[in-house]
Amino acid sequence: MAKLSSILPSPSRPLPAVKGGVAIVTGASSGIGRATVAALAELKAGAGTYAPDRIIGTSRNPDNITDPIDGVEYLPLDLEDPASIDEFATRALALGPPTVLVNNAGESQSGPLEELPDDALHRLFEINVLGQVGVTKKILPTMRQQGAGRIVMVGSMLGSFPLAYRSSYVASKAAIKGFAFAARREVQPFGVGMSVVEPGSINTGLSTRRTKYVDLQGPYGAEFTTMLTNLDNNEANGISAERVAEEILKPIPATRPKPLYATGSMAPVVFPLSRVLPTTTMHWLINRKHGL
Ligand SMILES: NC(=O)c1ccc[n+]([C@@H]2O[C@H](COP(=O)([O-])OP(=O)(O)OC[C@H]3O[C@@H](n4cnc5c(N)ncnc54)[C@H](OP(=O)(O)O)[C@@H]3O)[C@@H](O)[C@H]2O)c1
Repeated sequence: MAKLSSILPSPSRPLPAVKGGVAIVTGASSGIGRATVAALAELKAGAGTYAPDRIIGTSRNPDNITDPIDGVEYLPLDLEDPASIDEFATRALALGPPTVLVNNAGESQSGPLEELPDDALHRLFEINVLGQVGVTKKILPTMRQQGAGRIVMVGSMLGSFPLAYRSSYVASKAAIKGFAFAARREVQPFGVGMSVVEPGSINTGLSTRRTKYVDLQGPYGAEFTTMLTNLDNNEANGISAERVAEEILKPIPATRPKPLYATGSMAPVVFPLSRVLPTTTMHWLINRKHGL
């Protein structure tokens, strides 16, 4: 049976393929970012459809990366610091024409809305939203002028399926999706694709790096602990960062990159289900899956 998307009119024209150039991945020191630069390094070494000439991975402290991936050049980038974004963009653009930008760096934050400190909220949005947009704004003009490029925002399935006690993180991932979905049409006439990849539960050890803001003796403490225990278990049993990297690379050779790619947490079932079930039922299911 023909797919509905192949029958319905598509307003998008095919984009030119991206070739060579510089592939940039933010947050490449661990987890999904590290797996993505490793996958790009394999493409660079082989003769794949898209083989970048150079790969840039970022970290706040590249000197602390003890096991760098061969073929990856590491540059410092702190998304909380606009001066660092400026300096990074200048150095990255000096290395060659950017063909791929993967905005992956992020903070995973948890806590009841009532107890989230204002400075933690600001930091989260600087890293997960404003910093990603800031880097994109610096790289986009060159991609637009050269008439080809692919930009991938790494969101989260929580950006589509909100979970209690993750409100700040959910909102940051929904925000970056909003930027990408809207701006996608702006950049398309210039040969630039913009897509969002939403991973579900991924076993990257992220649970050990999660920031948590909760009074465990307070009114939300017990439920928060239940949610977090379930979340950490789901992540420990999640798919690999390498599998997510495969998804992140999908829009690169595509001439019609999709707006949204998702993997993990039964994404192929959950997204179609959300189109037929009432929103209240979906929200109940998501919270239920986390013991609430
Ligand atoms: N793991 C999951 O289950 C999962 C699920 C859905 C979505 N995601 C998303 O996938 C992305 C990667 O997650 P991950 O699990 O691979 O996390 P991770 O292993 O903790 O990696 C996070 C990366 O972000 C960088 N980073 C953190 N703060 C930064 C800052 N202020 N400025 C610049 N870079 C910063 C870190 O680099 P340095 O510390 O070296 O600076 C690190 O390389 C995130 O956007 C996350 O929200 C993850």
